Amino acid sequence: MADETTIKEFAKNRYWGKIPEAELEKALKIIDTEGWDAFARKYEDRLDFTTEENRADWRFFVPLNSKSVVLDAGAGLGRITIPLARVVGKVIACDTSLTRMRFLKKLAGSKGLSNVETVVADIFNPPFKDESFDLIVMNGLLEWVGRTDLYKDPREAQVASLKICKKLLKKGGFLYIGIENRFALSYLRGIDHSGLRFTSYMPRWLANRYSLFKIKHRYDTYTYNIWGYKKLLKEAGFENSDFRLVYPGYNQPRVIIPYDNIRLLKYTLESMMHGNTRIRKVAKLAARSTFLVWLYRNFFFSFSIFAQK
Ligand SMILES: C[S@@+](CC[C@H](N)C(=O)[O-])C[C@H]1O[C@@H](n2cnc3c(N)ncnc32)[C@H](O)[C@@H]1O
Repeated sequence: MADETTIKEFAKNRYWGKIPEAELEKALKIIDTEGWDAFARKYEDRLDFTTEENRADWRFFVPLNSKSVVLDAGAGLGRITIPLARVVGKVIACDTSLTRMRFLKKLAGSKGLSNVETVVADIFNPPFKDESFDLIVMNGLLEWVGRTDLYKDPREAQVASLKICKKLLKKGGFLYIGIENRFALSYLRGIDHSGLRFTSYMPRWLANRYSLFKIKHRYDTYTYNIWGYKKLLKEAGFENSDFRLVYPGYNQPRVIIPYDNIRLLKYTLESMMHGNTRIRKVAKLAARSTFLVWLYRNFFFSFSIFAQK
């Protein structure tokens, strides 16, 4: 297939996805034989794919122009690659999954975006020169990089991946991270990246034992609170990082709130939060009091993090 021959492979194909790889292969066939509309009808809700192009709206906080070169690390199905490619010179989308890169290549082609390059590569072994990028994106990646044989300790792997990003950035370049808050209230009802409930709240050693007991797999998908991320970034050499809260979540940045702007957070919770789940009711109630909003901020779902080299 033409799209496969033009994807450079620098790492062993390792699949990650909401549906099995064989199902994504089927989806690729449907795109080829029946077109994108047929694909969307069948798969849109089942994949981390979207036709919405506002998923990278955080980009307005980064000085980008038509000459900027961007690395979308762990690019997946291109939620971020596509909207970024509209406004920069070039986006290199890298991921360990060949099937996902084949999808992204097709998607970029269908939109006439010739400035997207797809490569199969592991962030721990990047086939790029140092100081090549104006922006590196880790949207939904940092929490997964601990799932590697290269490091025993998932946190060590996370720091190493950030150090690599720092080397790849041009001087003055930006690292963007979209990621969950370890203590997000929503983890009280949902599941953690581990596939289990409550593991992000547990001390790491306990989460690890629990995970080994329940699913025979070590706990390696660490998330943190704001202080944890700051420490991680500092260890990787990013002295200053700018944190924003994203509503409703980092994968859907409708409102991006500077971490210290309690009034904007209060307004967002009071006037924009829909739905009637127990968690939302708690949040809306908290929104009446500035003190409670200040407290609730610690349990907010996710962060947009900007760090400059
Ligand atoms: C949660 S998805 C995020 C996809 C995309 N960034 C987005 O926001 O839609 C994580 C992606 O990271 C990729 N990935 C995981 N570990 C990786 C690694 N070490 N190097 C490169 N990509 C990796 C997975 O294959 C997957 O596509």
